[in-house]
Amino acid sequence: MNAVDIINKTKNSVPLTDDEIKWLVNAYTEDSVPDYQMSAWLMAVCLNGLTEQETLSLTYAMRDSGEILRLDLPMTADKHSTGGVGDKTSLIIGPAAAACGVCVAKMSGRGLGHTGGTIDKLESIKGFRTEMPLSEFEEILRETGFSVISQSGNLCPADKKIYALRNSTGTVNSIPLICASIMSKKLATNADCLVLDVKYGSGAFMKTRSDAEKLAALMEKIGKAAGKKCRAVVTDMDVPLGNNIGNALEVEEAIDILSGKTKGRLYEICISLTADILELSGKGSRDECAALAEEAISSGKAIGIFKITLSLHGGDPAVCDDTSLLPHARFTYKVKAACDMKICGFNTEELGMVSLILGAGRIAKDDRIDMSAGIVMNVQAGDILTAGETVMTLCSTVCSDFSEAAIRAIKAVNFEKINCQPPLT
Ligand code: URA
Repeated sequence: MNAVDIINKTKNSVPLTDDEIKWLVNAYTEDSVPDYQMSAWLMAVCLNGLTEQETLSLTYAMRDSGEILRLDLPMTADKHSTGGVGDKTSLIIGPAAAACGVCVAKMSGRGLGHTGGTIDKLESIKGFRTEMPLSEFEEILRETGFSVISQSGNLCPADKKIYALRNSTGTVNSIPLICASIMSKKLATNADCLVLDVKYGSGAFMKTRSDAEKLAALMEKIGKAAGKKCRAVVTDMDVPLGNNIGNALEVEEAIDILSGKTKGRLYEICISLTADILELSGKGSRDECAALAEEAISSGKAIGIFKITLSLHGGDPAVCDDTSLLPHARFTYKVKAACDMKICGFNTEELGMVSLILGAGRIAKDDRIDMSAGIVMNVQAGDILTAGETVMTLCSTVCSDFSEAAIRAIKAVNFEKINCQPPLT
């Protein structure tokens, strides 16, 4: 086999065999196919797509490029989100499902660009360890039913290499490539039940609902073909998820939801996703599972699980009772309404970028994060404000000059002016 024949087949929309895909993935991972040939193939995939069978072969080839996790536990569940701005759902769903008797074993990534990563959020809790031997991960799961660790170095090395290449060659945005990349990691993590939350909108990879539905359907098919109980749902990322964006700020909001102090859209989404996990795990009908999820929070069981998980990971469980123990920003800046206005919506991706400028994210993978940085949204879409009221609060410790962030933040708000006529005299 050779790379040029494979590139030409995809360029001419001739389906590749399972063996050809395996060969290409292995040869690229072992450095015997160079970046320029793999880039050409990836671009051909972006332009012509892959069949479902090819996507399945690519997923398996990437999964099999490294270690496959085998936990000695009766049944585990995993939830994956395709990423968004302010998405702290994993921190809520994991303890809530565990409180209902379903073990949620997560390997998560760090944030890159405008989307945050669960690992970074948890590391904003002083002392919290996300790297540990698998035996310790298993022990924590046995004790609490919920644990999160960072992706093992040898899990899907092919995806690691291909994803980095896609990032620098304009080939991220392809449904079969995104599907194979996510599903190879999920299959290598090897949970029995998988709930996949595919986001769409301005803050997500998939900009339209119809693309998100295509990706969701393909991921669900692949999960089921691999023998998993799998459900993919689509959710709207046209507005940030919850009020807080940024690592410690998101942990604080997750604690408020887990403690039953706050409800609203984020709470509803978390109940629905937890119910999906419980239903797939055989805990009852959809309605029964939603009731179980609500009870896990209202009874205090979910926050109890989160506290034990925190302490077993080396973090301080007292943050759940006193969120002032989380990192807080040294500098804040209130973005205020310049006139009376109705908030129509937000450019969510741009809010993610503002949070990045404030220090909450990383542009390059080794950048240091300011755990206290981010944005508190003081309003929601549909709210009516009078001039001078606060739209959002920018927070940072590493950045005291808010000029660039504030200008971008104002531009990320879509609003209609109201009462702008000159006053009658
Ligand atoms: N997340 C992934 O892991 N891979 C993609 O290709 C896109 C999002």
